[in-house]
Amino acid sequence: MPKKAVTIKKAKKISPRFPDGFLWGAATSAYQVEGGVDAADWEVQNVLGRAGAAAEHYHKYEADFRIAKKLHQNAHRLSIEWSRIEPEEDVWNDDAIEHYYNVLTFLKKQGFTTLVTLHHFTNPTWVAHAGGWKNPKTITDFAGYAAKIAVSLGHLVDFWVTINEPSVYALLSHMQGIWPPFQKNFLGGYRVYMNMLKAHNKAYEIIKGYYPKTQVGLAQNIPFNDPADESGSSKLAARLSDYFSITRAFQGVRQDFIGLNYYFHNRVKMGLPKIVVSLPAQGELSDKGWEIYPQGIYEVLKKLKKYRKPIYITENGIADATDAKRAKFIMDHLKFVSRAIKAGVDVRGYFYWSLLDNYEWPVKKEENGFDMKFGLIEVDFQTQKRKVRKSAKIYAEICKSNSIET
Ligand code: GCO
Repeated sequence: MPKKAVTIKKAKKISPRFPDGFLWGAATSAYQVEGGVDAADWEVQNVLGRAGAAAEHYHKYEADFRIAKKLHQNAHRLSIEWSRIEPEEDVWNDDAIEHYYNVLTFLKKQGFTTLVTLHHFTNPTWVAHAGGWKNPKTITDFAGYAAKIAVSLGHLVDFWVTINEPSVYALLSHMQGIWPPFQKNFLGGYRVYMNMLKAHNKAYEIIKGYYPKTQVGLAQNIPFNDPADESGSSKLAARLSDYFSITRAFQGVRQDFIGLNYYFHNRVKMGLPKIVVSLPAQGELSDKGWEIYPQGIYEVLKKLKKYRKPIYITENGIADATDAKRAKFIMDHLKFVSRAIKAGVDVRGYFYWSLLDNYEWPVKKEENGFDMKFGLIEVDFQTQKRKVRKSAKIYAEICKSNSIET
């Protein structure tokens, strides 16, 4: 009897590296993409260049989200622009509320999980004129705005980020004087930071009052603080840095999840004039001059494990105009996220920064705000045409399969 050929089909190895229900998406912020944000301090007071029309996402959101959907993303992070909602104190703009109602409804209809940020660096000019975040009144004003959004849009929001990167805002706007309101005052900046954390807690309570089961948190920029050498003093420098970027940032802060924005590898040591100093970036850099250090996301995630909260990576991305590094950047970071999950860290989602090329907050006069290309989708700011980058398609494969191939 002739032997029957037995063919065993080699099953394609799917690596189920990410938990079921993992959120795959991209992030934006209102001022950086929408265009026409005329009543914000950033647009009115800035000396470093404004966003102006930005990516005209205010009008093009449907087309942009359709692309995200095609790219197999299942979640989206966006921010609501406070200065549109409340252009003057206690004056509420129903058209703006309706706009965001339409935006969020569209996302929900397309099947996206929504993550909404209430404050992403910009303030209404009336808030700025009243002293901004230095003035404790802003805590109450922000709480009023949070309540308004919770009441009118809360049913369309799955996750809330009350405030994006309060430590970065306090540092650049109030201590280093680089962003509006250009103040250089260490103690003032510290007060700003504390007021923002208080405002967060207030908004947390308000939102949970309306929607007890909804998930509310913050997005914190947490670098990997790495001792520059083996010396005890450099280790102390790293511990001090972690105190500010992790311990202090979480003290007394109510949150259902941790929102992690990961970009930086800081090799730190003790030194003057700032007590802790960082060595210059080394190795492979992004267009921004930031070191590409994927392992850092693993190190930070491990440090966050002890808080026993679900973690969402609310931002991670690269400025890369030629798109030569982006796909590898994403893949390498996700390998380390996957390793952290295997080590028991409860990571539940990843939002690439950013969906679109956008206005990037300048830190020097020479930067015009539009040179840094963070987008999965390229935007031609002359024509406002969109083009999906190659790396976006590679990220799409990951989103679709819920796994990465190693
Ligand atoms: C921030 C923001 C984003 C930036 C991004 C790239 O952390 O500054 O959340 O608005 O555009 O981080 O710098």
